[in-house]
Amino acid sequence: MKISLFSFLLLLLVLSSSSWSTLADNHEAFIQCLSQSNKTYYTPNNSSFSSILQFSIQNLMFNTTETPKPLVIVTPVSESEVQRVILCAKKTGMHVRVRSAGHDYEGLSYVSEVPFVIVDLINLRTINVDVNDKSAWVEAGSTIGELYYRIAEKSKTLGFPAGVCPTVGVGGHFSGGGYGTMMRKYGLSADNIVDARLVDANGRILDRVSMGEDLFWAIRGGGGNTFGLVLSWKIKLLDVPEKVTVFTLDKTLEQNLTKLIHKWQNVAPRFHEDLFIRIIIRRVDSSDQGGNNKQTIVASFNSLFFGGIDRLLPIMQENFPELGLRREDCIEMSWIESIMYFAGFPIEGSFDVLLSRVQPTTRYFKAKSDYVYQPIPEGGLEGIWRFFFEDEAQSSYMILTPYGGRMDEILPSDIPFPHRAGNLYKIQHLVYWDKEGEEVAERHISWIRRLYSYMAPFVSMFPRAAYVNYRDLDIGMNNKKGYTSYMQAKVWGMKYFKNNFDRLVHVKTKVDPSNFFWNEQSIPSLTS
Ligand SMILES: Cc1cc2nc3c(=O)[nH]c(=O)nc-3n(C[C@H](O)[C@H](O)[C@H](O)COP(=O)(O)OP(=O)(O)OC[C@H]3O[C@@H](n4cnc5c(N)ncnc54)[C@H](O)[C@@H]3O)c2cc1C
Ligand SMILES: *[C@@H]1O[C@H](CO)[C@@H](O)[C@H](O)[C@H]1NC(C)=O
Ligand SMILES: *[C@@H]1O[C@H](CO)[C@@H](O)[C@H](O)[C@H]1NC(C)=O
Ligand SMILES: *[C@@H]1O[C@H](CO)[C@@H](O)[C@H](O)[C@H]1NC(C)=O
Ligand SMILES: *[C@@H]1O[C@H](CO)[C@@H](O)[C@H](O)[C@H]1NC(C)=O
Ligand SMILES: *[C@@H]1O[C@H](CO)[C@@H](O)[C@H](O)[C@H]1NC(C)=O
Repeated sequence: MKISLFSFLLLLLVLSSSSWSTLADNHEAFIQCLSQSNKTYYTPNNSSFSSILQFSIQNLMFNTTETPKPLVIVTPVSESEVQRVILCAKKTGMHVRVRSAGHDYEGLSYVSEVPFVIVDLINLRTINVDVNDKSAWVEAGSTIGELYYRIAEKSKTLGFPAGVCPTVGVGGHFSGGGYGTMMRKYGLSADNIVDARLVDANGRILDRVSMGEDLFWAIRGGGGNTFGLVLSWKIKLLDVPEKVTVFTLDKTLEQNLTKLIHKWQNVAPRFHEDLFIRIIIRRVDSSDQGGNNKQTIVASFNSLFFGGIDRLLPIMQENFPELGLRREDCIEMSWIESIMYFAGFPIEGSFDVLLSRVQPTTRYFKAKSDYVYQPIPEGGLEGIWRFFFEDEAQSSYMILTPYGGRMDEILPSDIPFPHRAGNLYKIQHLVYWDKEGEEVAERHISWIRRLYSYMAPFVSMFPRAAYVNYRDLDIGMNNKKGYTSYMQAKVWGMKYFKNNFDRLVHVKTKVDPSNFFWNEQSIPSLTS
């Protein structure tokens, strides 16, 4: 018994050291391959390594000393350099993670338990806007803030539907869908992509014609780091009015918030497609004049309307008078100013802030998503408030985003993103904290998991749908060591992609049979 345990340990030691040495060799071979041409790369020896790595980390949970680090970070400056890096990785068997702007909620673009290199696209961010053609080519390392800025520089009446936070990268965002305030009018970012350039697992550069319609379908929502490395997207620019209207109205529990949210569920998904009202729910702590602590729940009704105040007010009066919207609550502005407004920047300020890749505050967080088909009863909402009054919920949010409008018209199979007609709204659950350490993380993550269990009877079932861009490694088993079986992947795959999952597996098996592009939640190849 003792002997067999000993030999078992010995075997482990031999196995781990031998695999370590092969991997070390691989990474040296990889660097050797890179150095044959003048590629910019950083190894841990290089004094810039940490700052390059940390620059695009957007969740502090993955900025700790224990977080596995890449062996090399490559920052290519041209398409042919990217191609060369992929060929070197393929030749030397190096595992690659592609990073655009690093917003992946689980850090999958820069963390791996398999030894890996990062291909960081930070230097690939040329954006060419063609106003006459109403289109733009956007390199994958660009952020959506840069994209909005470049569009507005050329036109006051063109825009593009994408996310609210300007630092999000188009590389990951468009690969998983991409939504924001224009979703009810124009759908997702991925619904408005007309061409793309990509490096496939064989190192070939392909465009829409040469990749074919199956692969072009898969990359518009099937998730990043799966079918290839996207170099750039060609998007369709969409008309926006010269004046849009925004408002944000806060309501507390004492102002009948529960009833208002209940009503919102029925009206917001059915409004005219020009009107988007989302709700951000949070707890607010304050102390009254006697110094007693008071807590309440606040819901911000946060809106973008594609038109002027005079057209908005009657629509609100007819459909949602309970909210009590007044003229003085509304502000008319240009589309690009509305981007500033939703991003939390003063609209009088310079638009240059949209070019910054640095978030105003980076924190520790965990998030989850849900889809709602039936209005949640008032009693169900009151149960949610009880979670918000717990200690861990001091900095937690629930964001309700209405569907309907254009989202109802696009078929669930048009692109891999399947959440269309039938959905009233989407929920994002979020919890933030500010202290490093496992115990703190554990408490907050457990809070959000408990809330998620509580929500089960009120949200989509079979599958319990989720949004791939709100990456959540809790929603299925994950193999962290380089291989995910079809059955393992199907659990989270059905939640993210519903009936599109099998078609994604089919495309993956065809274009990347050896599973070169892999992460814990990438679509599996049936032949690897
Ligand atoms: C603060 C914040 C705000 C957000 N707001 C919104 C929002 O309003 N709406 C919304 O829909 N989502 C939002 N998201 C989620 C966001 O859409 C996803 O996290 C998205 O995947 C981020 O893209 P990225 O390029 O920044 O991330 P990365 O972490 O760089 O990439 C995400 C995934 O895509 C892969 N990938 C990146 N670039 C490429 C490429 N060129 N080719 C192939 N694969 C690639 C990565 O390997 C990784 O798997 C937000 C996230 C954060 C952190
Ligand atoms: C690489 O080297 C070639 C030839 O020396 C040079 O023309 C080219 O500009 C270099 N590229 C980069 C990115 O430094
Ligand atoms: C770090 O890497 C960069 C890019 O490859 C290189 O220019 C620089 O000389 C390196 N610095 C050190 C100290 O090795
Ligand atoms: C890093 O530095 C060590 C010691 O200085 C050296 O042996 C090693 O070759 C270097 N690695 C790379 C990748 O430059
Ligand atoms: C990430 O960690 C490094 C090293 O501990 C630290 O210097 C840096 O400030 C951290 N990043 C953020 C955004 O806090
Ligand atoms: C809340 O609702 C009640 C009953 O529906 C109503 O009487 C009261 O005026 C409302 N309060 C506010 C602040 O709107």
